[in-house]
Amino acid sequence: MSQRPYIVGNWKMNGSRVMLAEARAIDRAAQRHPHAEVALAPPFPLLGALREAVSAIGVGGQDCHTAAKGAHTGDVSAAMLADIGADFVILGHSERRRDHGETDALVRAKAEAALAAGLGVIICVGETLEERDAGQAEAVVARQVEGSVPAGEAVAVAASRLALAYEPVWAIGTGRVAAVEDVVAMHAAVRARLTAIFGEEAAKVRILYGGSVNGENAAALLGAEGVGGALVGGASLTADAFLPIIAAAAAPED
Ligand code: PGA
Repeated sequence: MSQRPYIVGNWKMNGSRVMLAEARAIDRAAQRHPHAEVALAPPFPLLGALREAVSAIGVGGQDCHTAAKGAHTGDVSAAMLADIGADFVILGHSERRRDHGETDALVRAKAEAALAAGLGVIICVGETLEERDAGQAEAVVARQVEGSVPAGEAVAVAASRLALAYEPVWAIGTGRVAAVEDVVAMHAAVRARLTAIFGEEAAKVRILYGGSVNGENAAALLGAEGVGGALVGGASLTADAFLPIIAAAAAPED
């Protein structure tokens, strides 16, 4: 793998200032494992303090608005994230698609806004259990990739600042991890879609796996063909749970 594995912790709507101690411990571990690129996405209220608390890891938001500013109560813009020192933003997580009705078109517009603000972008895609059982997993994910990745002026810079996260909805927070061969097959399908969109530049886009990644299964998932990293929810909330995943990513594979 030419790029460093990218290990991103998504704290979702969890955490308080007390958890900055966990972020510091994760930061220290990342310094010991320079072969992995590590990042955390805390809830908005912790972003600034977490940014100040760490030096070796990336820091990102979990969503942003399409507009740079304006009358959008409760929303946060990509420019605001960049201003506070964020490096990236996670977009189109299945929980946002479910809780906030986010469509592929909205995710694409947010991704274009985030790139324009200078941020990296992690776009999440993934099928539900019903869709997998119906044999539609690859078709659903291909449609999400095609509809969610940037299409406008941002395309020129998109590939170098974009990551895709394949997160089967049924594997998120369930302890039920996807079979490695299914992950490999889906990552190849996503790669094919990205190549159709970006051409050779698609090689720069890392494809992460997410869904119940933990210290026990990380080595097998991260060592699988086409897996460029992991998006980790529950197991990123403590340094004790997250560090084995970072170590698994940093272990030389060949
Ligand atoms: P999980 O969440 O690791 O708790 O399954 C992953 C995610 O939603 O990104």
